[in-house]
Amino acid sequence: MSVRTPVHSATKPLSRRDVLARLGWGSTAFGMLGAGPLPDFGELRVPGLPAARGAQSGGIKLSSNENPYGMCDAARASFQAEIENANRYPFPWSADLQGAVARHLRVRESNVVLGAGSTEILRMCAAAWSDRGVLQAEPTFETFGSYTRAAGHPIHGVPLDGDGRHDLSAMQDSAGGSGVIYICNPSNPASTLVRQDEFDAFLDAVPEDKLVIIDEAYHEFVVDPDYRSQLKRAVDSPNIVVIRTFSKVYGMAGMRVGYAAAARELIRELDRYRTEMSVGVVSAVCAKVSLEDPDYAADQQRLNVEARGILEAGLAELGLPCWESQTNFVMCDLGRPMMPVNRAMAARGVRVGRLFPALPEGLRISVGTPEQMHRCVEALGAVLA
Ligand SMILES: Cc1ncc(COP(=O)(O)O)c(C=O)c1O
Repeated sequence: MSVRTPVHSATKPLSRRDVLARLGWGSTAFGMLGAGPLPDFGELRVPGLPAARGAQSGGIKLSSNENPYGMCDAARASFQAEIENANRYPFPWSADLQGAVARHLRVRESNVVLGAGSTEILRMCAAAWSDRGVLQAEPTFETFGSYTRAAGHPIHGVPLDGDGRHDLSAMQDSAGGSGVIYICNPSNPASTLVRQDEFDAFLDAVPEDKLVIIDEAYHEFVVDPDYRSQLKRAVDSPNIVVIRTFSKVYGMAGMRVGYAAAARELIRELDRYRTEMSVGVVSAVCAKVSLEDPDYAADQQRLNVEARGILEAGLAELGLPCWESQTNFVMCDLGRPMMPVNRAMAARGVRVGRLFPALPEGLRISVGTPEQMHRCVEALGAVLA
């Protein structure tokens, strides 16, 4: 199922003024945000909700775009076995993982840097480059912006278009004052893709003194045949960094492994900000064997499409339009403030996504198992009735 109705309005794209109004900011506040706290995803305030794995008898957690099935069998076996090496510092294991990632991507090891999740990579990027000012979509995944703000550096936000896609021409027009452009593709929280022809033209036009950071956390879930990762382009470019993670399709969010791929010079710069040995022995081995599993990513992609179809069909029956999702979550338009619905869902044992201030009526629901999707739709129907 693919629904293209925008979250805000079926016909009218969200204007910059709309976003400002929704955020409660004055017209001059948009471009220059002050230092702020790092994001609180609300996870720690959900007592009694288990980490979802398979069908749950208790609460279900559909708030953080996690994989409900967890790691592949080989990674589970490695998890047990590598306990024997937990007394060792991880450098030989993380070096092995770096080699495995490079082979998987068909690039050189010098084109790759590992981190404790892509969160660490985003922190490294912010430490290395955010002093040049950051341009990004509004809304987008918050972490890079949060680290940028924490460092006291400016962020310019450009509203998504009416279909929840990056408005690359508006971003190009606004890029003047920023040295770094962050693009989350597919987008979190919108779940949409950047249009490929537009992306190529945009990247062709970006001057080499501007750095483009492309966050491909949801890359492995994409089924749109027109989509292309920018990874190959990145390693051959002087100014593009691609970021990926083991947290999503590989079901390793709790293990904390991510990486960046880019030209050797950029990786060297980033590496200066890496926390030494931040990827532990067990995490490194589990990530390596996950990559080596020939079927896992494709199986998870298929399961995700099936369960997402159930969720999208249920939302359509409830009359809730969604943006077209290429991810393991869906953004739907409640047509009313989201937070009371979020709280009512939590009271029914279904934890759904947090507030994105630019989308006060947008509800983000992570894809779980088919059973979880049925239960979520049922709970939402009851809450909205
Ligand atoms: C777009 C995006 N980037 C990065 C991350 C961080 O993932 P991790 O640090 O687990 O690799 C997330 C997590 O949800 C995300 O949605």
